[in-house]
Amino acid sequence: VQNKQGLDAPLAFLGTIIHHLSPKQIEIIPKGLLIVGVNGKIAVVEKDVADDKVDSLLSQHGLSRHSPTFTVLERGEFLIPGFIDTHNHAPQWTQRGLGRGKLIMEWLNKTTFPHEAKFQDPAYARKTYASCVDGFLKQGVTTAAYYGSLHGEATKILAEICVQKGQRALVGKCNMNREAPDYYVDKSAAESIAVTEDFIAYTRQLDPTQELVTPILTPRFAVACDHDVLTGLGKLAEKNPDLPIQTHFNETLQEMEITKKLYPEFDSEADLYEHFGLLNDRSILAHCIYMDDYDMRRLKELDCGVAHCPISNTTSGVFGVAPVREYLNQDIKVGLGTDSGGGFSSSIIDCMRQAFAVSKARQLDHLQDKPLHFTEMLYLATLGGARVCSLDHKIGNFLVGKEFDALEIHTVGDDAGIITLVEDEDTTEDILEKFVMSGDDRNVAKVFVKGRSVKKSK
Ligand code: GUN
Ligand code: FE
Repeated sequence: VQNKQGLDAPLAFLGTIIHHLSPKQIEIIPKGLLIVGVNGKIAVVEKDVADDKVDSLLSQHGLSRHSPTFTVLERGEFLIPGFIDTHNHAPQWTQRGLGRGKLIMEWLNKTTFPHEAKFQDPAYARKTYASCVDGFLKQGVTTAAYYGSLHGEATKILAEICVQKGQRALVGKCNMNREAPDYYVDKSAAESIAVTEDFIAYTRQLDPTQELVTPILTPRFAVACDHDVLTGLGKLAEKNPDLPIQTHFNETLQEMEITKKLYPEFDSEADLYEHFGLLNDRSILAHCIYMDDYDMRRLKELDCGVAHCPISNTTSGVFGVAPVREYLNQDIKVGLGTDSGGGFSSSIIDCMRQAFAVSKARQLDHLQDKPLHFTEMLYLATLGGARVCSLDHKIGNFLVGKEFDALEIHTVGDDAGIITLVEDEDTTEDILEKFVMSGDDRNVAKVFVKGRSVKKSK
C-alpha cells in the first residue's frame, strides 16, 4: 500500500473514532465505520452503524469483513487524527537534552550552532535526518513544520527524506546572516536569499503537487536576520502567496531586548515582522510567551498561528509560560511544537501534558485562566496544529473528503510490548485521558499519512 499515486486498496476501520470538530467540540464515535479511498481521502464516516449497513458500505467500496485492509478496533483501541508538530528544528534531533540552564544566546552559540554546523556534511545530514523523520513518525507526528540548518543541500536532503518516508512536512532553509559565529552563518544577505530561492524551486519539483512536502520561509529570528534578509524574504512571501512562514516570536526577555537594540525603529516584534511582510495568515510564530494586549490584538487581526512549545519554554534558561487559555478564548490559532532540541523531550505526547502543566502554572498568576482539559490538549496536537499550518482544509480531523492522516492507538494487550492502561470500569473518555496523560509511542500502533502506513516496523 505504498505506491506514490495512491493506495492498492481502500482501508476500513470499525470501532471507536475520536476527533475534534472545533476547539470546544470533541466527537467520540463509539461504533464508527471509517472508509478511506485509494486516493488516501476519507470516503465514509458512519456513526453507530448497524451490522448490515457495515456490510453494504464495505461492499460499495470493494471491501468485505475478510479484506486484509479491514480493521476491527477492539476495546481500548481507537483512531485519532495524526499529531501535528508546529515547531521542530530537525538538526537538533541529535542534541536533545543538552544545554539546560543557559540563556537563549549562550545556548545557541555554545550548544546549538556548533551542532547545526555539522549539517554542512551531506552524509551526516542524510543519516541524521533519516533517524529524525523515523523518530517523529514512530510517535505519531504525521505533519511537522521543520526548520533545517542554514545549508541548502542538507535541507534538500531533509525534504527528500520526508517525501521518501511519507511524512507530511513544511521544510525551510534557516535564514541567519548575523549574530552567529563565522563557521555557521549565511555569508551575505544575497546568498541567504539565493539559497532559499534555490531550495524552494528544488522542493516544488521534488513534490510538484505538494502532496506532502511544502517549502516554508524560515527567518530564524530577527536577531539573526538583518534588514536585507527580512526584506528579501518579504519579497519572496509576496511573490509566492502559497508559502507559509515561520519564525520565533517573543520567546525570551534576552531575545526581545537584543531585537529592540538591532531594530530600534519598532516598538514590537509584531510591527517588525509585519513591516517586512512576514506576518499574515500563513505565519507560524513559535513560543509567543511575552504578549501584551497590542501583540495579542495584532496576532488575532492578522490571523497568525502560534506554535506553543511548553517543553522547551520550561527547560531552557528562564521558565516561560505562554497564555494558551487566552489564545483559545480569543480563537487565535494555536497548536503544539516539540521544538525538538530545546528541551527534555521531543515527544509530542509529552508535549500535550507539559502544555497542561504550563497551563496550571499560568493559573497561579491568572486565576481566571482555567488549566487545559485533556481534550483540549488533544485538540492542540491535532486540529489546532492543522489550523496553525494552514492545512485544516486537508487534515486535522476525520471529515469526509479530508486526507486520512491518523493514528491507531492501542492501550491494551501486549502485541507491541504495550503498557496496559485499561480497567473494566473505564469509559472511552477515561481511556483517552489515560492515553493523553500517561501514554507514549508504544501505544501508537499504526501511523497513516494520506492513507499510507508510514511507521517503520521493528
Ligand atoms: N531562537 C532562535 N533560534 C532558536 C532555536 O533554535 N531554538 C529556540 N528555542 N529558540 C530560538
Ligand atoms: Fe525553536
